[in-house]
Amino acid sequence: MSRKRVAVLISGRGSNMAALIEAAKDKAYPAEIALVLSNKPEAGGLTTARAAGIATEVVDHKTFGKDRAAFERALQTALEKHRIDIVCLAGFMRLLTADFVNRWPERLINIHPALLPAFKGLDTHKRALEAGAKVHGATVHFVVAEMDSGPIIVQGVVALRDDDTEQMLSQRVLAVEHRIYPQALRLVAEGRVRVVDGRCLVDGVPVPDAASLIACE
Ligand code: GRF
Repeated sequence: MSRKRVAVLISGRGSNMAALIEAAKDKAYPAEIALVLSNKPEAGGLTTARAAGIATEVVDHKTFGKDRAAFERALQTALEKHRIDIVCLAGFMRLLTADFVNRWPERLINIHPALLPAFKGLDTHKRALEAGAKVHGATVHFVVAEMDSGPIIVQGVVALRDDDTEQMLSQRVLAVEHRIYPQALRLVAEGRVRVVDGRCLVDGVPVPDAASLIACE
């Protein structure tokens, strides 16, 4: 089976992008990173991607002003130019409209640094600490028009410690993100994930083996 062509969309340092690039170095991995696209010309991840010999594009949202439709048309054009099959958002800090999202059904994935549906939005680690949560983590999910929603593919869990700081927690969650994103992309690229009634079924059943879909620190 040919490998799926993946675009990783970033806005910043791109450590999740780097984890996907690393996983895809293995020829047996079912996806190749064919494009890294940033909405910010200065994103650090672009340098990492170029050093890895991966094609990059910049679609700077600022040049489109308030015209989100034009911005998304430019995104779509870049993705088509590179014959992309699957899009991975990895710290991509632009909200995408239903028009764009609906063009990529079950082919547009995001990673969020919390155990969704808890702590949607920003400052997730701070909010988990303030809430006194005992576990926290990260979620890879399909993107739908509503922010940080959409069927959950894989989650990774970390235990909170009494002396945790936001920074310590974010480091542990990030390490989990770097494990679960390649794992989730593998499942999607292999065509093993189907969405039924808003939930992901892997290999046709809701949770064939919970341990394989939930990574613990
Ligand atoms: C990650 O924590 C990711 O979950 C969130 O944004 C951050 C991006 O980090 N969506 P990086 O650019 O992948 O290092």
